[in-house]
Amino acid sequence: DGPENPPARRVSDWSAERLAGLADEHDTPLYVQDLDRVGENCERLRDAFPDADVRYAVKAHTGRAVLETVREAGLDAECASAGEVDRALAAGFGGDRLHYTAVNPPARDLDYVVGVAEAEPDLTVTVGAVDTLDRLAERGYDGRVCVRVNPGVGAGHHEKVRTGGAAKFGIPSDRAAEATRDAAERFDVVGIHAHAGSGIDSDQLDSHRELVARMGELARELAEPEDADGSPIDLEYVDVGGGFGVPYEEDAPALDLPAVAAATREAVAPLPAGVDLAIEPGRYVVADAGVLLTRVNTVKPTPDERVVGVDAGMTDLLRPAMYDAYHPIRNLGGGRESDGSDAPAPVDRSATPVTVAGPICETGDTLCTDRSLADPARGDLLAVGIAGAYGYEMANQYNSRPRPAEVALDDGTVAVVRRRETLGDLTTVERDANRTDRTEA
Ligand code: LLP
Repeated sequence: DGPENPPARRVSDWSAERLAGLADEHDTPLYVQDLDRVGENCERLRDAFPDADVRYAVKAHTGRAVLETVREAGLDAECASAGEVDRALAAGFGGDRLHYTAVNPPARDLDYVVGVAEAEPDLTVTVGAVDTLDRLAERGYDGRVCVRVNPGVGAGHHEKVRTGGAAKFGIPSDRAAEATRDAAERFDVVGIHAHAGSGIDSDQLDSHRELVARMGELARELAEPEDADGSPIDLEYVDVGGGFGVPYEEDAPALDLPAVAAATREAVAPLPAGVDLAIEPGRYVVADAGVLLTRVNTVKPTPDERVVGVDAGMTDLLRPAMYDAYHPIRNLGGGRESDGSDAPAPVDRSATPVTVAGPICETGDTLCTDRSLADPARGDLLAVGIAGAYGYEMANQYNSRPRPAEVALDDGTVAVVRRRETLGDLTTVERDANRTDRTEA
């Protein structure tokens, strides 16, 4: 018997009292990230995939405390940019645990990573275009390379995050074997890679299986070329990407990770001797470890809907505006009744359909529409769940809104790990060039 599939954490599982205390102390909007849960999620992945290399896709949450937790849990780091490599190094990942996935990499990023590789020669660069291989060679790089393949099949929660099959990512599969053999003449080719997309749920397992099967086939073809002239490539691993979904809707079933692992192993088999399976989940590690706390400041009944105005918007959590993503929202109460009485509002007010909207001047700036919530009153605290992945990471300063603060919970302690930005932070990169530093154009 394999490991059981432990349930995902729901927004209702968080202690309302604890969250209310954090909001009172640190103000809102506030991200709360539970490092204990991050550690548990790493364990769940390692239990389900005991014989695979598990790499955390850093882009899902790049906070230092999260990276350190993931490193201590034994996962490697998969980085999408020089900035992410820099953060992973600072969090203590050595080159042997660093994987840099170069997607149309800016020259500056390649220069930086090639520099890092001089000191950390065990670092691996994953490359999805022959141009990128050429650009690495031009910089004198001859180290570890993994070849990213476009598997021709994708999956994910939204078309904008379905990478497999998108021409932007990877070398087309019909040219992958040849490109890998060519690469092996210039670099130490150690792996092949494909990523289907992000937010794969149980309904999309067929696509996942298809991708994994194609990667297994490619690994066998590289190990034992049909063409008598082709020399075999000794791979260390086949990386089948990340994308493992988490349930956002409160009643959605959790992805059956042990079943996904079994299907993955079966689809990739038989791997050539000495070749390991690798995965690189991001969302699964951090999503249900985070909530975003936001305070109701406006309640507006209109003929069509009830609009609940809050202090967090698309600048704090972009996913609903960008992907129509669903995030569970729980009203923790604490506000005053809208009749102006001083009595704290009870949270069992009858559920009402509402639109929760932020402070940004765009119609799309909503956290939910037509959602049934325990009728919010001014001053109520709302907890937006499953906000730990691609939450703070996609936050921005549009409308000159400073980014929110983040606290990390760790074994009964709490620490501010990202301070709230100030109005002063908004202009730190700005220069008064119009007046003082003008040069002839
Ligand atoms: N590996 C590669 C090469 C990737 O591009 C990604 C995600 C991952 C791994 C990790 O995927 P995950 O396990 O987190 O699904 N901002 C979007 C998600 C974009 C994901 C991009 N690539 C969202 O909020 O849904």
